[in-house]
Amino acid sequence: MTKPVTDLIHHPYIPPAGFAAPQPPVYKASTVIFKDVAAMRARDWRSKAGYTYGLHGTPTTFMLEERIATLEGGKHCVLYPSGLAAISGVGTALLSSGDEVLIPSNVYGPNKALCEGEFRRWGITHQVYDSMDLADFERRIGPKTKLVWLEAPGSVSMEFPAIDEQARICRQRGVLSALDNTWAGGVALNGFDAGCDIVVHALTKYPSGGGDVLMGAVVTRDDALNEKIKLAHMRLGFGVGANDAESLLRSLPSLPVRYAAHDRAARELASWLSTRGEIAQLLHPAFAGSPGHENWNRLCGGHAAGLFSVLFDQRFTQAQVDRFCDSLRLFKLGYSWGGPVSLVVPYDMSQIRLAHHWPEKGILVRFSVGLEDVQDLRADIQQSLEGMK
Ligand SMILES: Cc1ncc(COP(=O)(O)O)c(C=O)c1O
Repeated sequence: MTKPVTDLIHHPYIPPAGFAAPQPPVYKASTVIFKDVAAMRARDWRSKAGYTYGLHGTPTTFMLEERIATLEGGKHCVLYPSGLAAISGVGTALLSSGDEVLIPSNVYGPNKALCEGEFRRWGITHQVYDSMDLADFERRIGPKTKLVWLEAPGSVSMEFPAIDEQARICRQRGVLSALDNTWAGGVALNGFDAGCDIVVHALTKYPSGGGDVLMGAVVTRDDALNEKIKLAHMRLGFGVGANDAESLLRSLPSLPVRYAAHDRAARELASWLSTRGEIAQLLHPAFAGSPGHENWNRLCGGHAAGLFSVLFDQRFTQAQVDRFCDSLRLFKLGYSWGGPVSLVVPYDMSQIRLAHHWPEKGILVRFSVGLEDVQDLRADIQQSLEGMK
């Protein structure tokens, strides 16, 4: 007779098989149990035909990987605990001491910080290319270049580079290109069709859609490239929690509908704001006159995210623009995007050390449009504009 505590751990009851529900089940595990020693010894952790250890995959994380690979038009997907971890995962998998990585002038800031910090310390150099100047792009690719990051659009400056041309040049020169495709949400742009080798997606944004989950994905089509990335992923101990994976699986089916709603509302607000006397320039790739609009037109099938920036007229001081942001009631002050709550961030572009090509004057405010009623959002911006004068 076993004792009650043992019975609670090794209970004989097994529920009937065949349970079906719309939402996939959540499997939680660090330890995975093998049926015998032979199965344990035979197990190759790299194969998705079975399970080894929670860190190397559960049915829940495998399911999410397959869906994200499909979303991005790739073959393989590896999950990371944040979008930034996915970015660092690519670099650490592919770069060695003596190599060089190129990053665009509009790069997501922490990617640049990684190059300036750990990569420099490890003997990996980097160069920043002008994201809108193909000649500058091509000139900077040299014999040491092993990886080139592409990003469209800049997530603050909003200019849309010709990433198809950039990817073509990378192919010609024999270097790998990795696209941070977070803005496109898996809806607006297929990075592989544009010619990229690696697509990174911060699932934290539109795929999560709740502003409550941090996760990232690296998607590839090439088997050998995936193997390299997966090996480094394992050695570095990256993994994601089952509950976070479940949240993503729940949010994914509504992604295209949410993305379109964010897009619609953002364009309506952007269009109205651009007519206001306080605004000197609208930066939204779907609007003619925004830098790289022609590239967006060619590559994005008419889709755009719920993000845009505006430059306030130069007569407004930083303090006034700060007051505008502080006076908003529905738009909250916060980084990130893709959730239901609308957000703003004021940026002093001279402090960002962004581009070789940032001639614009005036304080920039980036809007991330959520899912609130668009007329309410417009009224909120209007009352705040009135208050800043
Ligand atoms: C363009 C872009 N890429 C990557 C990331 C990183 O995502 P995470 O916040 O999940 O690390 C962000 C986050 O703001 C982003 O804006």
